[in-house]
Amino acid sequence: MSKYDAQTSTPGDTIDVAVTGNGLGKRLGIIATCVVGGSLVALYAVTGPFVAPALRKICLPFVPATSVQVENVFKVLQQRTGSLVDIGSGDGRIVIAAAKKGFRAVGFELNPWLVWYSRYRAWREGVHHSTSFYISDLWKVSFAQYSNVVIFGVPQMMEKLEDKLGRELQSSARVVACRFPFPSWVPDDTAGEGIDTVWVYDAKTVQSLVQINQATEK
Ligand SMILES: C[S@@+](CC[C@H](N)C(=O)[O-])C[C@H]1O[C@@H](n2cnc3c(N)ncnc32)[C@H](O)[C@@H]1O
Repeated sequence: MSKYDAQTSTPGDTIDVAVTGNGLGKRLGIIATCVVGGSLVALYAVTGPFVAPALRKICLPFVPATSVQVENVFKVLQQRTGSLVDIGSGDGRIVIAAAKKGFRAVGFELNPWLVWYSRYRAWREGVHHSTSFYISDLWKVSFAQYSNVVIFGVPQMMEKLEDKLGRELQSSARVVACRFPFPSWVPDDTAGEGIDTVWVYDAKTVQSLVQINQATEK
């Protein structure tokens, strides 16, 4: 009880004030819990998709291609036209650059924030009509319909991806691997150096080598 309460209030008044004060404290507690809880949920919603790849069997984090790497990709695709897919499209930089060069460009990406950001960037840069971005797991998508395939992966996934693309792609397709090459395929060409190196594989070369290997195994 405060000095003021002691001098001016009856005992009943003092109890009312105490109950009201207690109720306010409870309300503040609930608000604080909601604010902290809401902030944690929001933080998880934003950071979760960036952290999740590290917890998967094959960890493929978001590391954007350097501008030199992007230049090298389009150097080796100079004479090519048609459709292009970036597998794990990140913030959409390769898809957007491809659309600016006249490709019908598509990105598949697991992280929804990156997909929404890519769509926004494509719209801002005026190429939203020739780009598409999908929130998808690369292992659950078929790449059979694409003439040009770009992958900036990690070494742990390249063998499995090599099998998948080898089975799916048409013989006219070209694959560009950034920073990490495929383990068994023999490249038709390379461009750049160091971390900006890209390796080029024509599906018909890869498929004919597979046929030769199968024939010699018999
Ligand atoms: C190394 S980054 C490359 C980004 C972009 N292609 C570039 O070159 O700037 C790999 C991307 O693949 C995405 N990713 C990881 N696992 C994936 C999966 N299973 N399916 C689709 N995308 C995936 C990551 O979120 C990340 O954005």
